[in-house]
Amino acid sequence: MITPKKIQKMKFEGHKIAALTAYDCPTARYADNSGLDIILVGDSASQVVMGYDSTTKIGMEEMKVFARAVINGVKNALVVVDMPFLSYQTNISDAILNCGEFIKMGAGAVKIEGANEYIISLIKRLTDSGIPVMGHLGFTPQYIKTIGGNFIQGKSLENTLNILEDAKKIQESGAFAIVLELVPDICAEYISKNLEIPVIGIGAGKNTDGQILVINDIIGKFDEFSPKFARKYSNAKTIIENAVENYVKDVKNGDFPNSAESFHLDEAEREKFENYTQKSGIKSFN
Ligand code: KIV
Repeated sequence: MITPKKIQKMKFEGHKIAALTAYDCPTARYADNSGLDIILVGDSASQVVMGYDSTTKIGMEEMKVFARAVINGVKNALVVVDMPFLSYQTNISDAILNCGEFIKMGAGAVKIEGANEYIISLIKRLTDSGIPVMGHLGFTPQYIKTIGGNFIQGKSLENTLNILEDAKKIQESGAFAIVLELVPDICAEYISKNLEIPVIGIGAGKNTDGQILVINDIIGKFDEFSPKFARKYSNAKTIIENAVENYVKDVKNGDFPNSAESFHLDEAEREKFENYTQKSGIKSFN
């Protein structure tokens, strides 16, 4: 079982950390079997599973269902649950209770976005309470309405230094790792090299301590938008559409189910049926 400490050790030993999101039990199980280090139950579920148009629309109740499903499927990877919008911003006590729900469920850590004064004190309280925390800097989708449409962060030396300063505060408050989203490669490399805790990049170039992507992007199961950094490894949309089209065709043509896909009476019972239907005049069997 991978722990936050093991993730930190991977950075010290120079091993890259491989992370993906997952939202359901079978996908999480397959992902876990395939050697992932971290599985994030991302609030990206809001768009890629629930079909909302923003991350901020998903809540605790929905995230609890996804988290439980993923935890049920994972034996080895570290399961991190993304805290949904407003589940940790209102006050520290509610935040601890909400984060604690996922830890009690079996998650290994939670992820929260930002680094303002409140968030920094919250990370400290959470880690002091035994709740491992992953930070999230660079582009922070839950702040989309206040940061506006500037997706790429750290586009100047000054911005990069600001992100590093925030990252150091997160590190000092006890977080075990940070997700760094949508930052130019050289800035992400600089930030990673100047932190002791691992930096897991997304759209942040190759020189971070690890990478994370949304699984629905890489398997081709989400096509509403496709960021350039989300390399596609399969086309699940086409696989699903082809399978369903063929199923519909087979049902309509009467080709499904065939004899091997059906249950049958034994010989004696079938004979009884045939005799009965003949006598009663009810339509007989084929
Ligand atoms: O919710 C999510 O999927 C994330 C990743 C993009 C890191 O936060």
